Amino acid sequence: MNTELESICGLVRACGLFIKDIDRGQLHVDAKSGRADLVTQYDRQVQERLRKGLLEIMPDAHFVGEEGSTQAFAPIGKFFIVDPIDGTTNFIKDYHYSSISVALVVDNAAEIGVVYNPYTDEMFYARRGQGAFCNGKRLHVSEEPLENGIVIFGTAPYHDELKEKTFQLAYAYFRKALDIRRSGSAALDLCMIAAGRAELFFELILSPWDYAAGALIVTEAGGLASDCDGRPLAYDHPCSVLARNQLAVPL
Ligand code: IPD
Ligand code: CA
Ligand code: CA
Repeated sequence: MNTELESICGLVRACGLFIKDIDRGQLHVDAKSGRADLVTQYDRQVQERLRKGLLEIMPDAHFVGEEGSTQAFAPIGKFFIVDPIDGTTNFIKDYHYSSISVALVVDNAAEIGVVYNPYTDEMFYARRGQGAFCNGKRLHVSEEPLENGIVIFGTAPYHDELKEKTFQLAYAYFRKALDIRRSGSAALDLCMIAAGRAELFFELILSPWDYAAGALIVTEAGGLASDCDGRPLAYDHPCSVLARNQLAVPL
């Protein structure tokens, strides 16, 4: 691992251990865009810690994070795109499937992706052109077709207009694949594809901080990541996400 990536992983691990060990009695939950779109003081605290730490590691970079007002993404330049806690509902419920997600996007191409699950102590990371890893071990997507595969999907929980279509598609995949999963952290779900633990992931809308890091980890593990129509993923606006191994043909 090179020094920058090592420093980012160190910072992300510290933030992960912080959220794992919080005093749950002190948890304050606020709703954002709607009833299911939640935030806690820890999402904000972790984002601030990441903002400070990442800009110390790379002072010439810009910072875009999910919580609060941060800079807007632009196609030229270095940007950290950060989700301080991906899987906030799981975090609130103490469900033990949440992650910290940090991507470095340079001139509109993902350069570094780091996703950490503090509950399993799994650090997923990739640098463009250098492969994807989990705790030092090289990752490869599986070589199973959809028929022998697990499909993970996200429910686009903050978008009522996509709920019916999401479950129609999930049902179609359920009929074709071995089984389906809905786990609650898109960043970690993408890492499951990269690790070959599942074959295909889709969600009809996500934000760049949900997928920028995980999608790089998938492609560096030999998989494919795009929007659901096969177009490249955007970093400046939300889009659908489809990630898969080479053999899982999407519906
Ligand atoms: C959410 C999670 C979830 C996905 C949502 C995301 P958040 O992120 O990744 O799995 O279904 O669309 O918004 O709000 O917990 O950071
Ligand atoms: Ca998220
Ligand atoms: Ca989040």
